[in-house]
Amino acid sequence: MNKLPKTSFESIDPILDKEHKNIFKALDKLYYSNKENWNKPEKHTKIIKLLDKLYRICYKHWKTEDKYFIKGLQNIPKEHHDINKEIQKHREQHKSMLKCILKIKTEIKQNKSRNPSKKFIQMKKDIINHINNEDADHFHWS
Ligand SMILES: [Fe+2]
Ligand SMILES: [Fe+2]
Repeated sequence: MNKLPKTSFESIDPILDKEHKNIFKALDKLYYSNKENWNKPEKHTKIIKLLDKLYRICYKHWKTEDKYFIKGLQNIPKEHHDINKEIQKHREQHKSMLKCILKIKTEIKQNKSRNPSKKFIQMKKDIINHINNEDADHFHWS
């Protein structure tokens, strides 16, 4: 079974593509290697390590996107900087996804989460949807 989403994520930029693939791999690793283990406290150290890795990969990737936004704005006239609002919205989504990763991690660490796997699956969907819709809009691929 192909674990990666079936949609095409090819952008015009190989760096973005590579980073997106790394995010999908990290999400898959969390999902497939821990499917039965999310609710087992003895497995939580491993899950926390994988969540840390996902956080680092996402953080790095969203810094890359930020650089592209800044570069892109330099090339368009100031009167068209309405796009700034769109970029702000995009950045807010990045921030809230990072917060979500941290929240899941903290809840697992403190044994506060009743159903960590459910939260993770929602987060996975949110990240994939973001790449598939919001990134596709900004970084233009079909
Ligand atoms: Fe992205
Ligand atoms: Fe993005």
